[in-house]
Order: sequence, then structure tokens, then C-alpha cells
Amino acid sequence: MIFTNLIKTNLRTKQFGRDIEYYQRLGSTNDEAWELIQNGEASHGMIVITDYQTQGKGRGGNSWFMSPSKGLALSLILLESIPLEKARLIPLVAGVAMAKTLKNQGGSPTLKWPNDILFHGKKTGGILCESKISGQSVKSMVVGIGINVNETEIDFPDELKETAISLSIESGHTHQRELVAAIFTTFFEQYWERLQESPEEIINDWTSLCGHLGKSVSFNFKGEHLSGIFKKIDQNGHACVNIDGRDQMFPAIILN
Ligand code: BTN
Repeated sequence: MIFTNLIKTNLRTKQFGRDIEYYQRLGSTNDEAWELIQNGEASHGMIVITDYQTQGKGRGGNSWFMSPSKGLALSLILLESIPLEKARLIPLVAGVAMAKTLKNQGGSPTLKWPNDILFHGKKTGGILCESKISGQSVKSMVVGIGINVNETEIDFPDELKETAISLSIESGHTHQRELVAAIFTTFFEQYWERLQESPEEIINDWTSLCGHLGKSVSFNFKGEHLSGIFKKIDQNGHACVNIDGRDQMFPAIILN
């Protein structure tokens, strides 16, 4: 059970998270967010959240595992028109907001491009941003966040046991998921405002949380598996990766 009033009490936002759609059980919060948008039932800054996500979607067509009543699965709905160059920074905004949230809760997270959140090299969270564009701007976006919060090792399926970690394994105690959701939403709104005025702060904050500057990375891009040395994030939020001696740029999100 998620108590939405507990999220609201802990929010320090003007708009984000004031409307919350809670479902005890749901296929995917991202899919439900799009459904609400399509039906005209969504508002800018609305949160869609569930206690048990059964068909969570990950990046690149992967699935996202959530342990019922222990993990956090939420989607934030953005309905203000965003120029494409700013929209490309939103996955980084979500990553920084989440890393700051986990720090606030006693963890020491690092970010892995494009948007994994790690403790000691193991994955604790991921971000799936989906968008609808028209002309040169994004008209609507759904920012999906999945975090392992209160799982113990035995809660993860065998195939994830080696690579997954939760906030409670990191900190040594359990956490109130409502508080984690509220802190994330508060940080997200602060960075959303910075996106308008000082986007360079987002790049700087992301860079200082990145765990692999100058190190070798491998990632999937447009169905291809690539490896190289991660050099930096440029002012557009593109990763600069040196592959076979040549610097190449990769966006954190393919907008469509
Ligand atoms: C990844 O690392 O591959 C991204 C995982 C994103 C998972 C979240 S959970 C809430 C939202 N709803 C979904 O179906 N997916 C995202």
C-alpha cells in the first residue's frame, strides 16, 4: 500500500505531485500515464504510482522487475511544451534528482550514462522517458522511475541477484517509499525550473555524480552494442565516447 497523503505531506513543490493517481496493482505506470494523457485526464506534474507493477518497461525493450510493496515505480507527467534541446536533458534531470534523493536517504549513488543509478556498481534504479513531439518541441513526456527501495537479496530473481541492489541494502535500514517519492519529486521540480534558466547546472551536477568519467563503458544504442572510453557530457546532454580512437556523440534519449 502506498499512502498518497504521505507523499503530499512531504512534498516541497509548487505544482509537481499535487495530483496523484494511485493504483494498488498496474501493468506499467508509464503506459497508464499515456492512457490518462490520451483521455484528457492528466495534468502537468501529475504522478502515477503503484504498489505493484507487473509489466514494468525498461529501456531498449527490456522489462523492469519490481518487488511488490518494496520497490518504487512512478511516472511523472509533463504537459508543458519543451524545446527539443531542453527535452534532451530531462533524462539527466531525472537521474540527478534521483541520485540526490538517494543521498538524502543515506546512500552514496553514482550515475551511469544514460540513466542508471548505481550503488557500488550495482543497479538500484533506472529511468525510462517517453515523449511525443510535434515540430521542434516535445508536447508531452512521461518520466518513468523505478527504484529498488526495501528489497533484500532474496527478493531479487536469480538473474538479477548479482547485478541489483536496493537502497535498504545500501543503508542498512528500511525506507518509507512515500518519502522517497516526495523527495524525488521535489528535486525534480527544482531541476525542471533550472532547465529553463541555467541548464549548465544540470550538466555540472550530472558530471559530478557520474561514476565512469575517463573509464571504459559499454551500452546499447539503436540496437547496437558499443564500447569505448566515456569522456564527458556536452552542453546538449550528449555523451562523448571515444570508440576506436574517435570521439562520437550519443543523445541520452531519442525523441519521437
Ligand atoms: C531501465 O533502467 O531500463 C529503465 C527502467 C524504468 C522502470 C520504470 S518503473 C516506472 C516506470 N514504468 C515503467 O513501465 N517503467 C518505468
